[in-house]
Amino acid sequence: MADSTDTRELTPPGFAMGDAAGALAMLEWLASLGAADPVLETPQCWLADGPSAQGDAPSSVPEAQQAAIAASVKRTAPSKEPATDSGSLAEAQRAAAAAQSLAELREAMARFDGTNLKAGARNLVFADGNSQAPLMLVGEAPGRDEDLAGLPFVGASGQLLDRILAAAGLDRTKVYITNVLPWRPPDNREPSLTEAALFLPFLKRHIALVRPRIVLALGATSMRHLFDTTEGITRMRGKWQELLIEDNAIPAMATFHPAALLRNALNKRFVWRDMLEVSARLGMLDQKDH
Ligand code: URA
Repeated sequence: MADSTDTRELTPPGFAMGDAAGALAMLEWLASLGAADPVLETPQCWLADGPSAQGDAPSSVPEAQQAAIAASVKRTAPSKEPATDSGSLAEAQRAAAAAQSLAELREAMARFDGTNLKAGARNLVFADGNSQAPLMLVGEAPGRDEDLAGLPFVGASGQLLDRILAAAGLDRTKVYITNVLPWRPPDNREPSLTEAALFLPFLKRHIALVRPRIVLALGATSMRHLFDTTEGITRMRGKWQELLIEDNAIPAMATFHPAALLRNALNKRFVWRDMLEVSARLGMLDQKDH
């Protein structure tokens, strides 16, 4: 970054510069926006003649990427919240454990008032696809389109997800899709740790009720919370993990989020590799069953 850059203008709202935690939070925030990711096939100086801070993209960037860049520039940092309130967490655990069916779980999530997210969202986004399918995908949180439709992955990243699935011979009748959060975070921001922690018991119960043969985490947020890791997605993706859900060990993997692929098309090859791995394992499970 050029010396002349005024870092105050780059400080995300809510983060104070000058303290280590603030600086670390800002770095994480910038990385989550894709600051470390190449956007185009060839390097470009974004400060000289690239997009403005408002997210204008140069005309050489394809439209889908422009939309993704604009969305990521608008993305705000997670809100600074107090640590998870133990009463709310206990309530989430109790409500999730009591749900005996997907319908009951959906009802319990709609009733749960442990976060403020519900107040700012239009619709609960519970799931889409086939709950009998062997493959369960877990994304991050609904965006604007998903909030309006009440369904996960229906916007730009959802369309890319459908193309990824189609390339692997899959579609929404052959997979089941949900998110870490069922409510849209305001301003398209990343889920806070507290929000994710409060909805984790519901997500785990969701997985337990669906009983998928394989879980695929889409993106770093889903991966971090499902696998309880602080590892980066670039290092973790494509590696088989064991997800222990109510004493059941489920093979699981993380791959890049489709929205990240809209920002960085070069990573599509890794997602393709990961999908081949997942398809091969699904095929093996299929053979075992017959
Ligand atoms: N991104 C997600 O992680 N989930 C959605 O449902 C939509 C976009």
